[in-house]
Amino acid sequence: MVGRHLCCVCCLLCCAMASAKHLRIIVTGGTSGIGKVLVQQLAASGHRVFFTGRNKEALQGLASCEGVRGSSGDVTNEADVERQFSEALEFLGGLDALVANAGCGAGRQNFEDLPAEQFDRVFSTNVRGAFLWTQRALRVMKPQGHGQIVMTSSVAAMRPCPKAAIYAASKAAVQAMVLSLRAELKGSGVKIGSVNPGAVATEWWGDEGRGGWTKEMGPGSALPFWNDMLRPEDVADGIMTLLTQAASSNIESLVLDPADAGGVAPPDVAKRQRVD
Ligand SMILES: NC(=O)c1ccc[n+]([C@@H]2O[C@H](COP(=O)([O-])OP(=O)(O)OC[C@H]3O[C@@H](n4cnc5c(N)ncnc54)[C@H](OP(=O)(O)O)[C@@H]3O)[C@@H](O)[C@H]2O)c1
Repeated sequence: MVGRHLCCVCCLLCCAMASAKHLRIIVTGGTSGIGKVLVQQLAASGHRVFFTGRNKEALQGLASCEGVRGSSGDVTNEADVERQFSEALEFLGGLDALVANAGCGAGRQNFEDLPAEQFDRVFSTNVRGAFLWTQRALRVMKPQGHGQIVMTSSVAAMRPCPKAAIYAASKAAVQAMVLSLRAELKGSGVKIGSVNPGAVATEWWGDEGRGGWTKEMGPGSALPFWNDMLRPEDVADGIMTLLTQAASSNIESLVLDPADAGGVAPPDVAKRQRVD
């Protein structure tokens, strides 16, 4: 009995160590911000990484890392996802993990002024994109009986702030997808969880095209709030925690606040930083 117990413990440890060593991972939205830092961290730890985005220059820059390949495509476009998923399987030679990270915001407009196109763009990217990639990952992971999926959600899913209703709603949808899938995947050997950061200092904030705020924000910003945000490295560390968790563990969500947020990020931003 003791021998069998020890053997099970050894199996768990071996599984955890083997998967921690050479994971084959897809990262969507790996060309910028959190995803870019994650790809770099994963490559530095010896994992094999296939990452996606649309910015060709950024794709080429990172793809020079060993064991890393970038691929251009839109997460909202099913044909792109289908093609890229095949490319990923060919390059990786299998699949251990998917990080559905690509996302965008809806800007900082009052609810009544938000164009319906913004709604469609945000839901298409944040929800449909995660759905399309996760579907394909599950078709590989369920038959093989193992795999880890991580969705980059947001604290906005639980603590929505003003002028971010559509973004928050899209992340709440991501959260619901994670919870429903966790129940559906029970006993399958496949795990899914979310990482929910507060405000993170990435390019997103300074780029209205990404649904960010204002060009005064972004890397190098002199605005005080910039220094109070999480770093993308903090979030990449959180994602790594899910990817490398023990076989006996199944993290549902990891909520990350900036150090002085006191559980109210990012709404606190609105008080400190008048941009409108
Ligand atoms: N920054 C924050 O404060 C914060 C806080 C909580 C959660 N998050 C979440 O964290 C994730 C990453 O955000 P980030 O701050 O790192 O933003 P970012 O710097 O703007 O990076 C977003 C990434 O998503 C990709 N992407 C966006 N739309 C895409 C599309 N339609 N098709 C393919 N790729 C697309 C971008 O690639 P291309 O530009 O190459 O297309 C880029 O690689 C998002 O899901 C975001 O909602 C961010």
